[in-house]
Amino acid sequence: MTDKHNQYDRYEMASRDEIAAVQLQRLQQTLRQVYHNVPHYRQAFDQAGVHPDDLKQLNDLAKFPFTSKKDLRDSYPFGLFAVPRNQVARIHASSGTTGKPTVVGYTKSDLDVWAEVVARSIRAAGGRAGDMVHVAYGYGLFTGGLGAHYGAERLGCTVIPMSGGQSERQIQLITDFQPRIIMCTPSYMLNLIEEFTRQGLDARQSSLEIGIFGAEIWTNPMRQEIEAKAKLDAVDIYGLSEVIGPGVASECVESKDGPVIWEDHFYPEIIDPESGKVLPDGAAGELVFTSLTKQAMPIIRYRTRDLTRLLPPTARSMRRMDKITGRSDDMLIIRGVNVFPSQIEELILRLPALSPHYLLVVSRDGHLDGLEVRVEPHQTLPDGTQLAAELAAELEHLIKNLIGVTARVAVQPVGSIERTTMGKAKRVLDLRKMG
Ligand code: DLL
Repeated sequence: MTDKHNQYDRYEMASRDEIAAVQLQRLQQTLRQVYHNVPHYRQAFDQAGVHPDDLKQLNDLAKFPFTSKKDLRDSYPFGLFAVPRNQVARIHASSGTTGKPTVVGYTKSDLDVWAEVVARSIRAAGGRAGDMVHVAYGYGLFTGGLGAHYGAERLGCTVIPMSGGQSERQIQLITDFQPRIIMCTPSYMLNLIEEFTRQGLDARQSSLEIGIFGAEIWTNPMRQEIEAKAKLDAVDIYGLSEVIGPGVASECVESKDGPVIWEDHFYPEIIDPESGKVLPDGAAGELVFTSLTKQAMPIIRYRTRDLTRLLPPTARSMRRMDKITGRSDDMLIIRGVNVFPSQIEELILRLPALSPHYLLVVSRDGHLDGLEVRVEPHQTLPDGTQLAAELAAELEHLIKNLIGVTARVAVQPVGSIERTTMGKAKRVLDLRKMG
């Protein structure tokens, strides 16, 4: 990488010692900053009997208390800010399904760091200065659109701020402007691929060469499906608003082996979700993040609820995370068996005739939980054949054998499962929670 905009950032290829040294220094500084400026953290540290000076090495972080979504809600709206409000340059918020939204804030310097890590992510995906980037993540309070936008600008790209929705128009602009890169949720990409077909076009013929997909869980079989149908390289970008937004971690196109965590800005831990104990690299558990450079709203040991593993460095010097397999609050318990929607997705995609448009409907029949998997074939099945029933039986068999639950599979007409109009796909309808 020679061009000024296309060089690695300082720590991307640094030695592990160098990375650990900068992490320690930034971590100590962040702990002091929140202890002195955010009453919530002072109280929580005091209560746990820890002081910022107790952090002498990185693993001392395990002594410090976790932060949860509830702490953000309890401090609504600006209680966790560590700077006076007039130094906050931007606010984002997530709607949340219940109660108050979670609010996050950024100083100018935070926005700068954010643009930097997203630029780094786009570059890791193979993007370069001068490329045209079509951003179809939603703009607004959601961090996807604006996060992608400023990162692409920072890299020196030409940005199309399309936002989500209006699929017909998206295809027209992609056809006319010829962007090389698209950024949107993987489920929305599937919609766009369908829209190409609806307009008599072939997504494989489009100008798109790179897709940077995230904001929701998606599996490797889903990656292969999108890559085949749109003839592009599909990479995984991860992030959450509480930590900064998209660009906490992102995948390298040359390895496609899980998002690289931008460890010079975000310090990861994996914990046992039950006991809270820190687990060694490689063990599966809940991902926890501490910000290392944030000013407006530094965050200490935030419990993401996302389940994954930390993996050793490959294409960069920084550690990777495995693709997220589920969220601890998304796990379905069906007659005592734990089921993640991503497990079902993988099995659906083992059957070439089925598409990744699916919905899991969970109900309770008397004392028993029932799981229905609604799924669509790629193409309308010929009338009067047993094909739908055969496919359903085959998938039921796979689910029973490999996950261990009995599910009823309904192979429905093409287009009958609700598509996301812009944002994250809805994969589960839990009727048990609806009374
Ligand atoms: O979804 C930020 C984002 C925007 C990431 C665009 C990537 C691209 P939130 O709305 O706060 O922020 O939701 C964060 O979404 O805790 C995960 O459960 C999930 N998530 C985000 N990226 C991925 C991914 C944005 N690549 C929550 N794979 C996180 C799996 C993801 N899940």
